[in-house]
Amino acid sequence: MATSTPTFFSNTLIEWYHRHQRPLPWRETTDPYAIWLSEIILQQTRVRQGLPYYLRFMERFPTVHDLANAPEDEVLRLWQGLGYYSRARNLHYTAKQVVAEFDGQFPGNYQGLLQLKGVGSYTAAAIASFAYREPVAVLDGNVYRVLARVFGRHENIAAPASKKVFEEIANHQIPTDHPDTYNQAIMEFGAIQCTPVNPDCLFCPLQQDCFAFQNGLVNLLPVKEKAKSSRHRFLHYLVLQHENRLYLKKRPGNDIWQSLYDFFLVETDTLHPDPEVFQEQVSEALGIPSASFTSTGKVYKHILSHQKISAQFYLVSLPFRLREETEESIGIQLYSIDEIEELPKPILIHSFLNEHFF
Ligand code: ADE
Ligand code: SF4
Repeated sequence: MATSTPTFFSNTLIEWYHRHQRPLPWRETTDPYAIWLSEIILQQTRVRQGLPYYLRFMERFPTVHDLANAPEDEVLRLWQGLGYYSRARNLHYTAKQVVAEFDGQFPGNYQGLLQLKGVGSYTAAAIASFAYREPVAVLDGNVYRVLARVFGRHENIAAPASKKVFEEIANHQIPTDHPDTYNQAIMEFGAIQCTPVNPDCLFCPLQQDCFAFQNGLVNLLPVKEKAKSSRHRFLHYLVLQHENRLYLKKRPGNDIWQSLYDFFLVETDTLHPDPEVFQEQVSEALGIPSASFTSTGKVYKHILSHQKISAQFYLVSLPFRLREETEESIGIQLYSIDEIEELPKPILIHSFLNEHFF
């Protein structure tokens, strides 16, 4: 289970950030204009591509007045190559708005910033936290991903209704003493460490407290999909045997089969995952060298009210016990066959055991 407390989560991210952050010029300033400009550019492109644009804009238009007074052609010219030119026109419009309606001063808090054209909740939170240290959490794709994985949230991030859920988690985590660093840190963490594909879980400081990692759900979180009536899930069970005992694991409380016992589990979105990716994930999680895991061949099916389950089992005989840290971090324990008979188990696990062990 994810056990992160706000201070542990935010401290860990901030500590990580101090070691791994990329030096970026908009992080060296508290000028709301510079921060706003950087965020608008970064909505359009990645950091690497956006950086030279940011530098050129800041050189040519060091203040919001310079931008507001520029001919539109020049603004579009500087934007050239970023695409989506309505963003450039909006940028220009907003600069004029700040000058005309706010006397050249960006509004001084989150609520006020929302009045600006093209400034939504994300941009307002970024400016308010980075420029004014207001403790309001940013939510972008990176943040959704980190929160969904660490806290084991299955809400569909593509559904507008989920925003509230994630906002609540994020605003609970943000520390009031360093909201600016925390917001930068969680975005940077999502961009560099907890990436959409192949996140670096092996060297992740949140590994122990990450729900997705602990439950083999890293590839499946965050959920981002159109509503489906029935979810098809593909479970791959590693049946780890040492001498006459098997490793089992008690299931977490917020998924199917609460508190029942099953094996070390990796969940994927297809019946036949890429064997290389699969093996690497398994060997990483278990801290053992990459080996060939071969399915027993049979696919066990089970239908639940809103889910279809297809499970496969892989028999792995271990010549040694796993390291104690590994056992603890994954939450698995060795049980004799007699003990296993007494444990409460999903039917599907029971059927498998019946065919191979009982
Ligand atoms: N992407 C969006 N905002 C960013 C920021 N402030 N730093 C790095 N990448 C970002
Ligand atoms: Fe992300 Fe993996 Fe770290 Fe969890 S363990 S936070 S999924 S990188």
